[in-house]
Amino acid sequence: MKVLGINAIYHDPAAALVVDGRVVAAAEEERFSRRKHGKRPLPWSAWELPELSAAWCLAEAGIRPEELDAVAYSFDPALMGTPEESGLFDDGDTMRKRYAEMAPDFLAHALPGLDPAKVRFVKHHVAHAASAGKAAPQRDNAVLVLDGRGEAHSHLAGRYVDGQLEILAGQALPHSLGLMYEDLTDHLGFLRSSDEFKVMAMASYGKPRFLGELSELIRATGDGGFVTETIDFAEFAPRLGKGDQWTEDHADLAASVQTRLEEVLVDLARWVHEQTGEKTLTMAGGTALNCVANTRILAESPFEQVWVQPAAGDAGTALGAALHVAAELGERTEPMPGAALGRGWGDDQIERWLQTAAVDYERPDDVAEAVAEVLADNGIVAWFQGRSEYGPRALGHRSLLAHPGFEANLERMNDVKGREQFRPVAPMVLLERAPEIFSRGPIPSPYMLFVHDVAPEWKDRIPTVTHVDGTARIQTIDAETEPLVHRMIAAFERRTGIPVVVNTSLNTAGRPMVDDPRDALECFGSAPVDLLAIGPFVVRRPVRTPRPE
Ligand SMILES: [Fe+2]
Repeated sequence: MKVLGINAIYHDPAAALVVDGRVVAAAEEERFSRRKHGKRPLPWSAWELPELSAAWCLAEAGIRPEELDAVAYSFDPALMGTPEESGLFDDGDTMRKRYAEMAPDFLAHALPGLDPAKVRFVKHHVAHAASAGKAAPQRDNAVLVLDGRGEAHSHLAGRYVDGQLEILAGQALPHSLGLMYEDLTDHLGFLRSSDEFKVMAMASYGKPRFLGELSELIRATGDGGFVTETIDFAEFAPRLGKGDQWTEDHADLAASVQTRLEEVLVDLARWVHEQTGEKTLTMAGGTALNCVANTRILAESPFEQVWVQPAAGDAGTALGAALHVAAELGERTEPMPGAALGRGWGDDQIERWLQTAAVDYERPDDVAEAVAEVLADNGIVAWFQGRSEYGPRALGHRSLLAHPGFEANLERMNDVKGREQFRPVAPMVLLERAPEIFSRGPIPSPYMLFVHDVAPEWKDRIPTVTHVDGTARIQTIDAETEPLVHRMIAAFERRTGIPVVVNTSLNTAGRPMVDDPRDALECFGSAPVDLLAIGPFVVRRPVRTPRPE
């Protein structure tokens, strides 16, 4: 069975392909179109499809559109109420519904040869749920979808038993933890449905002194759902425009909302544990990218394990919808093999890109050693290896790397990327060394979706990646699954005694992550980076970049 999954309705358009129950390809449209998040989540963009990523998924597997058994579209317009019924009073929903209804025809146009009758609508939160519960390695699990909105709900609680979803609760709109957090993002001068992680970063600078007031306005209801009353954030801190300077009040508001969100999520997790008794909780939905909240859920709920879909936002619904429909068609689906499901190139192909660009390049004996040497000398490295990753995090295939031992490297990395200075950068650490350096969050943590405490004796050794509150958002590197990255960090450790490198996504501010070799060369050409390690090759910048001591 060949099932193509499509996410298109709001944002982060993406495509995924499941063949005979296995995920063989998944990619976000932004990596192809080079437009961050693919499109704005506006009603009049709801028709736009992930045409480039869908075509690539099919080409990658050598499948023609007419050979597909089904296309799974991660939204079901029949489940959508009127703007009044949802309580959101969003007139644009009428247009969204109409465009979603027409998606089969749009898809048949975008993928010539596809029979529009093969398009199936999948409830948005069932698609999110499948992206967690059917993609996780633990086949039986409890599942929480924590989202902004679907057709008529903002959340789902349920369980997967032998691959079958049982829905236990769903919070109806307009109550929505995700939309509430988006409103705050907008209030703080950031871009709604895009910059929520900046609010989480700002929260770590504040104190939750408005928690008392917010506890009334945002609360779990004891039946698996919750209430989010309309909040006038201006009562706590004045609205900010884009780029305005924020004050202690703003940081305290962010900290208060963040803390209240964590408390409610822990309540929701406890409820779904009570109902299911499962050992593992799986999660998806944009709110599940909140790694501070994820760590609290793991620490304070009775679940032994928490697995979060790395593409927890709407992009992941392409994968989830495809897995769900494959199961409907009788397939026994397999967990996802990892996040590296996007485009990759052979050595010969990469070398041709380098020859086309007419740059001097070398093929060192071991690219891992060549990179470690530059990093140990406090250079910055652009690292492009293997297939690109699905989801918003750089996980060692498209990364900017640096030495974690210099406090000034945080500012330096943010300058290289041209982005705000309060943004943290994250460590990659050898899996076997992680427990002595990091605690509280789960180990292994392969997808960088939790925060950990940095051991006191390590804080001064890795200041670049130790956040102001003493935490770090780590990615553990397993020699089995990521042998090249593991070898590179081990080579860095031999030179410096530190089994950690700084990892941030390979892009500059406002641009999608680098995906193909040309993107990598363009990024390297325009940013003060010392070395581009691309496949087995390296390109060196002839001028040494300025280095902090
Ligand atoms: Fe969603």
